[in-house]
Amino acid sequence: TAIHRADYQAPAWWIDTVDLTFDLDPAKTRVLNKMRVRRNPEVPAQPLRLDGDELNLARVLVNGAGTSFKMDGDQLVLENLPEGHEPVELEIFTTCAPAKNTKLMGLYVSEDTFFTQCEAEGFRRITYFLDRPDVMAMYTVTLRASKTQYPVLLSNGNLVESGELEDGRHFAKWVDPHKKPSYLFALVAGKLVAREQKIKSRAGKNHLLQVFVRPGDLEKTEHAMNSLMHSIAWDEARFGLSLDLDRFMIVATSDFNMGAMENKGLNIFNTKYVLASQATATDTDYANIESVVGHEYFHNWTGDRVTCRDWFQLSLKEGLTVFRDQEFSMDMAGTASARAVKRIDDVRVLRTVQFPEDAGPMAHPVRPDSYIEINNFYTVTIYEKGAEVVRMQHNLVGREGFAKGMKLYFERHDGQAVTCDDFSQAIADANPGSPLAQHLQQFRRWYSQAGTPHLKATGRYDAAAQTYTLTLAQSCAPTAGQSEKLPFVIPVQMGLLTAGGQEIALQLQGEDAGQVANSRMLVVTEAEQSFVFTNVPEAPVPSLLRAFSAPVVLEHDFSDADLLTLLAHDSDPFNQWEASQRLGLRIALNAINAGASDADLLPASFVQAMRSVLRDDRLDPSFKDLVLTLPSESYIAEQLAEVDPQRVHAVREAMQLQLAIALQADWEATWEAHRDTGAYQPDHVSAGRRALAGRALSMLCLNAVNTGDTVWPGKAYQRCKDAGNMTDRTAALSALIYSASPLTEQALKRFHAMFQHDALVLDKWFALQGGAGDRSGNVLPAVKALMKHPDFQIKNPNRARSLIFSYCSNPGAFHRTDAAGYVFWSERVIEIDGFNPQVAARLARVLDRWKKLAEPYRTAAREAIARVAAKPDLSNDVREVVTRALAD
Ligand code: ARG
Ligand code: ZN
Repeated sequence: TAIHRADYQAPAWWIDTVDLTFDLDPAKTRVLNKMRVRRNPEVPAQPLRLDGDELNLARVLVNGAGTSFKMDGDQLVLENLPEGHEPVELEIFTTCAPAKNTKLMGLYVSEDTFFTQCEAEGFRRITYFLDRPDVMAMYTVTLRASKTQYPVLLSNGNLVESGELEDGRHFAKWVDPHKKPSYLFALVAGKLVAREQKIKSRAGKNHLLQVFVRPGDLEKTEHAMNSLMHSIAWDEARFGLSLDLDRFMIVATSDFNMGAMENKGLNIFNTKYVLASQATATDTDYANIESVVGHEYFHNWTGDRVTCRDWFQLSLKEGLTVFRDQEFSMDMAGTASARAVKRIDDVRVLRTVQFPEDAGPMAHPVRPDSYIEINNFYTVTIYEKGAEVVRMQHNLVGREGFAKGMKLYFERHDGQAVTCDDFSQAIADANPGSPLAQHLQQFRRWYSQAGTPHLKATGRYDAAAQTYTLTLAQSCAPTAGQSEKLPFVIPVQMGLLTAGGQEIALQLQGEDAGQVANSRMLVVTEAEQSFVFTNVPEAPVPSLLRAFSAPVVLEHDFSDADLLTLLAHDSDPFNQWEASQRLGLRIALNAINAGASDADLLPASFVQAMRSVLRDDRLDPSFKDLVLTLPSESYIAEQLAEVDPQRVHAVREAMQLQLAIALQADWEATWEAHRDTGAYQPDHVSAGRRALAGRALSMLCLNAVNTGDTVWPGKAYQRCKDAGNMTDRTAALSALIYSASPLTEQALKRFHAMFQHDALVLDKWFALQGGAGDRSGNVLPAVKALMKHPDFQIKNPNRARSLIFSYCSNPGAFHRTDAAGYVFWSERVIEIDGFNPQVAARLARVLDRWKKLAEPYRTAAREAIARVAAKPDLSNDVREVVTRALAD
């Protein structure tokens, strides 16, 4: 049954303190929960209803005496608590079975170590509680366990006592000095070792930082620790926010449903976002670790100190914290070009994953109005679009203004559980007179209306008057439950270029000349609005939505010449890249729509533009790599009313091959100039060199298939064997796989033999095969065979994702005319749902856009979804996804 935002009610009871004692045992853990509760005087008297899930209840005491209680579904209901406003002492004794907890929510065991995951509603799987974020309590936690098996015992806050118990057991007592909601509770117990670092904050306080991993992984924690120290320094410098704990811990586990979790003072991470060495992790891994460590650390303020009133407000903490981690990564990257590359990466995720979500059956506002299973709403809309909504507020008040707004937000709400409206109110109130303050009510539509707005730009140049009129018209397609959309507030950063690529000084009619600049922000608030620029010497090429200043689809009738001008000359690197993507997309869409042969798709002007980029020594290699990346199949598919995925695949592959052939000499020169990246450093510049070298190698191997040449595949094989780092090694291996070289099998064997003891590298090995090019329909049989490989474990989320998710998001291999890909998908969704609904529901989303598919795919996809939906004992998680997918 659905839960609605409009039904929010303050809790009838508060929980002030919690004292938990755990006797840890994998088969049966005993949990003694002593709480001090009191009635919320602002709410009419009601029974206390505590949430629970898969608990065994042994005893309930009220003020030390037995009491009557009843069960209502999963809730424990106490109707006869003393009246009045005096606090009541409640004691609840339960047991649970962590070793059998395959959902990885609540308390579970991974590799003989206890971990917890409580967000969003996992704490109720540990003890009965008011498991909602607006109930904040002070926690004291005592852990007891076998000393030999669980030498390290961790929980939130400060260690205040520890010692020996009888029978080889020991204990540790932790007190968290900050009150917190239950979703931020954590414990860890097992055989772990830690990298430690003592730091002094700006304010002169001492802190102990620890990164806990399994013995043997310690040398892979340096980058995570460095990332943590950088995060701490950055939050102090940029926002004046300091670490508020004596001790800050990160613990890594290889069984984790998502990336990481910001439990107060005890962040728990997927090993994928902690462990790195040059031999085992790629540049992307290094960058992701920095960003996720930053993300979880930044939650300490945006999430933990100020949390969400209810789960509909999830983006309050997630959108804001993603914005903060994006800014952190940009500030760490340094140069303007490196910042732009990060921005482009983020926008690519938004467009290829969030835009489709916003147009599909799971579309929801950044602040949803209802949900069935909250776990299904940890989405790219809440996270990435939420971050864009925060970014627009930042853009509308400026960098300084935003810092002032954040300060006011914490002055008003520190220690509280609040709403998205509270956030935007603070940013606006700190900046009176700003466009955000002027249009705050309207701006909030970004939180309430789902769907991606389209912004149509038309320009008219009047040569006699030397004016250029830019008209911007916005619209947004209906989404489920929202047929009419009202206009959004859209900040449009823009400039005008001459045909020769010179920036034109921008002067809006009616404004004085003092305000002239080459780039400025227009604020669109109407359905249609015109801006008149004066003193425009020639018909300009507009550069609109610079740095992607709003999460919209910009439509403008650019000529090819306009796009080539922007690609070559725009002062905004984002729009330079954007021009290359528009050119590529145009070629792909024309070819798909024409249905003609796929020979000679690339016009000479396009090839020449790509060549100029490759040869331009002033450009950053990572930027070149992005320009030379054709729009993805899913991005191309989104532009089509009806999608034949094999046609999209064939056209993109043909374009890719032509790029390989036409630029053969340049790829060779690029390879020669970039292949030696020196001693490994994960910095932006050397990572960019490796990325470009990898692309060149891949193009050269692709061309080799065409010419029958064996030299380049031979070089790739050699590099796969000898590379000094994982980035070069996987780039070489994927070049072999992508070009279906006969050396592939041997290279895969070697790679496996070298890394068979490293789980994260094996994940890459599986993922490369699930994501392989499908020249003869051979990927699915290979994936099925790999599921029987001794190293494949479906219950490990990383491993399941590496093979199954990689395959199901590999369009050329997954969308088969014989429907076998969809059948495989439905079987895996059902299989995984049997033990881990959260992971299953993610996989279920792969077919979200089935209605856009052409026949025979469409019917086959519907049947596969219906097969899943027909399963009687489906989890809420998967049921919500497939029900929405099938609804009209
Ligand atoms: N708050 C965590 C983060 O973004 C993610 C928690 C995801 N929880 C879930 N049930 N999916 O850092
Ligand atoms: Zn987060």
